Amino acid sequence: MALNLQAIGKKIGPVTREYTWKDVVLYALGVGAGFDELDYCYENRLKVIPSFSIAAIFEFLAEVGLSSEANLAGILHGEQEIIFHNPIPVEGKLTTEGTITHIYDKGADKGALVVAEADTYHSNGQKLFTNNFTLFCRRDGGFGGQDAPKETLEFPDRPPDFEEEGVSSPDQPLLYRMSGDIFALHVDPDFARASGFDKPIMHGLCTHGYACRAVIKHLFPGEPERIKRFRNRFSKTLYPGIPFKTQIWKIEEGTALFRTINAETGEVVIDRGIVEWLSRDEMEKRSRRGGIRFDEQVAVVTGAGAGLGRTYALELARRGARVVVNDLGGARDGSGGGSASPADKVVEEIRALGGEAVANYDSVSTPEGGEAIVNQAVETFGRIDILINNAGILRDKTLAKMEPAQWDAVLAVHLDGAYNVTRPALLRMRENRYGRVIVTTSAAGLYGNFGQTNYSAAKMGLVGFMNTLKLEGEKHNIKVNAIAPVATTRLTEDLLPQDLQAKLQPEFVAPMVLYLCSEQCPVNGAIYNAGMGYYSRAAVVTGSGAAIGSGTAVPTPEEVLAGIKQITSLDDAKEFHSATEALGAMLDALTPKADKPAAPAKKLTVKGVFDRITEAFLADKAAGVDVVFQFQISGPGGGDWCVTVKDGVCQSEVGTHAHPTTTILMSEDDFLDLIGGKLNAMKAFTSGKLKVQGDLVKSQLIEKLFKF
Ligand code: NAI
Repeated sequence: MALNLQAIGKKIGPVTREYTWKDVVLYALGVGAGFDELDYCYENRLKVIPSFSIAAIFEFLAEVGLSSEANLAGILHGEQEIIFHNPIPVEGKLTTEGTITHIYDKGADKGALVVAEADTYHSNGQKLFTNNFTLFCRRDGGFGGQDAPKETLEFPDRPPDFEEEGVSSPDQPLLYRMSGDIFALHVDPDFARASGFDKPIMHGLCTHGYACRAVIKHLFPGEPERIKRFRNRFSKTLYPGIPFKTQIWKIEEGTALFRTINAETGEVVIDRGIVEWLSRDEMEKRSRRGGIRFDEQVAVVTGAGAGLGRTYALELARRGARVVVNDLGGARDGSGGGSASPADKVVEEIRALGGEAVANYDSVSTPEGGEAIVNQAVETFGRIDILINNAGILRDKTLAKMEPAQWDAVLAVHLDGAYNVTRPALLRMRENRYGRVIVTTSAAGLYGNFGQTNYSAAKMGLVGFMNTLKLEGEKHNIKVNAIAPVATTRLTEDLLPQDLQAKLQPEFVAPMVLYLCSEQCPVNGAIYNAGMGYYSRAAVVTGSGAAIGSGTAVPTPEEVLAGIKQITSLDDAKEFHSATEALGAMLDALTPKADKPAAPAKKLTVKGVFDRITEAFLADKAAGVDVVFQFQISGPGGGDWCVTVKDGVCQSEVGTHAHPTTTILMSEDDFLDLIGGKLNAMKAFTSGKLKVQGDLVKSQLIEKLFKF
């Protein structure tokens, strides 16, 4: 079976994992820590061994193997690189999302490489680490793809500067597997023998944990949080109880090379190790900066030459963002040829603060302008992480006096402007699988304001824009929220009460906007009012309503009148995340109560599965397939079934086949969990719950050919 090249670029995850200090300690014990390194094992002063970061997201790695459709019998962990962005807290929830970035072909007899990348965020909102994995798929080469670029790494021609000897316990894998990697190869002697080993082997990632402890001990002892990068190749297997040595060469302050060798044979088991760490100064800087920061991020703020936009741009820059200060420089009503000076001035202010910024003078009101603004960010700073759609004008008139030009101009800047800039920005953000978008709504749109139908329509239009964009962006880790500010600016100086001017400074709005732009913000699709230090959420809510009439005949207006109190009531009002959810609630309200209790689900049985297997067969996926699956299901409801697939036809029979292509052995409960979608096939296989005899590659066709 060939690798699935379509998997490249498709999102994998989010995969989540909650952990407590006990998981951290269990991992530490699994990779050999003990009384000598009590900080890794004692909850009162706990520090996390940085390599925990890959053990904690082991499920993601399994998903990569699954998505690539690699031949499970040939998968080995090839290379691993972890980039650390923030220290790992001792408990919390990790959310990991990533993608397969490349699939390389080393040749028919040499195998293939599946390369994946994933970012992991902590429930505190911080990005903790990025993992780059390479799976070496020994049996999947020769599909005509490109080979991976060659990389060289030479160890210095001198004895290592440090050497750390270690020996794992003969039972080490039994302890290490409790951290999540329960592949049978590391526990089941029969499985290990069938895979060509004398007995269960060490997990490569367990030896990796020993190596991580060793480099920390010799290079930045007691300060695991200083690690910046940890990279290596897994080159040979090791049996538990065999002594090994981690050899370390310090290349310069902050960089060292390492490898781990089998102390008995001299074979290199972990090769091409690179470790980088932060200096104390850099560490201090990182801990001082704390809180909400935008270092390494790029923000675009439209209409940032004055008022609120200027304040957002300054605050973002103060907290480390590189900023594109966009402003057309027109008059309050959008008229005039435009002037570079407002944007230039703000850029000067940012530079005077020691920040980085570039001016842009394009108008948001055309698609070309929007494109040019985003291009400016990418060309100058290489990316875009944050977009604040803030540019705005006013052309107030009552509807009776409003000319088409006044209507059009206001919608062009506010509503079209958001479309024009957000679309090209979104395309870039999707590539980086990260983005924060702000749209600027207004109390005038949310609640109404005399003389502003054009402005109110645009501002409420932006809420609709956000409601849908939040759904389209969520799988790319792009969050979009709306701010309804209140502040004295050129736009509002003659509209807001004079006596409140001092309190009405844009600076009071900025904290809410910066929070919504931060990595820490989990909110997606919400509206916030902000001004004078007061912040509140506004929302569209829907009452529980009333079903009027019989449900078959159209109700009369009189019936509506009779039920108006209940229809109008907002008691028990709810927010809906999408139109589908709202429709679901409507249908639910219309379903007569008596019909509601669902018929008790029929209990799934093994026999029932095989009775229905021809219905679950996907004939369109079976072109050219000629295979006999033999199932041996143990347990009281189990038995033997053989399923033949040939010429696009599937047949199932009770009993055994004389020459099955592949035989699947499972317990009744595990088999039903697998069919019911509660057990993942890869996990079942790696944990020994699903055993395969005969052609392992063909056994993987089952997932493709049947959909229950
Ligand atoms: P402001 O007039 O001080 O700033 C708006 C900026 O947008 C100006 O510098 C202007 O040159 C720029 N701009 C206008 N058209 C542009 C275009 N086509 N392309 C690029 N830049 C353009 O106004 P303020 O108050 O700072 O407004 C910012 C946003 O906040 C606006 O969207 C406004 O509608 C909204 N808002 C403000 C409220 C307030 O109390 N100040 C209340 C509710 C909403």
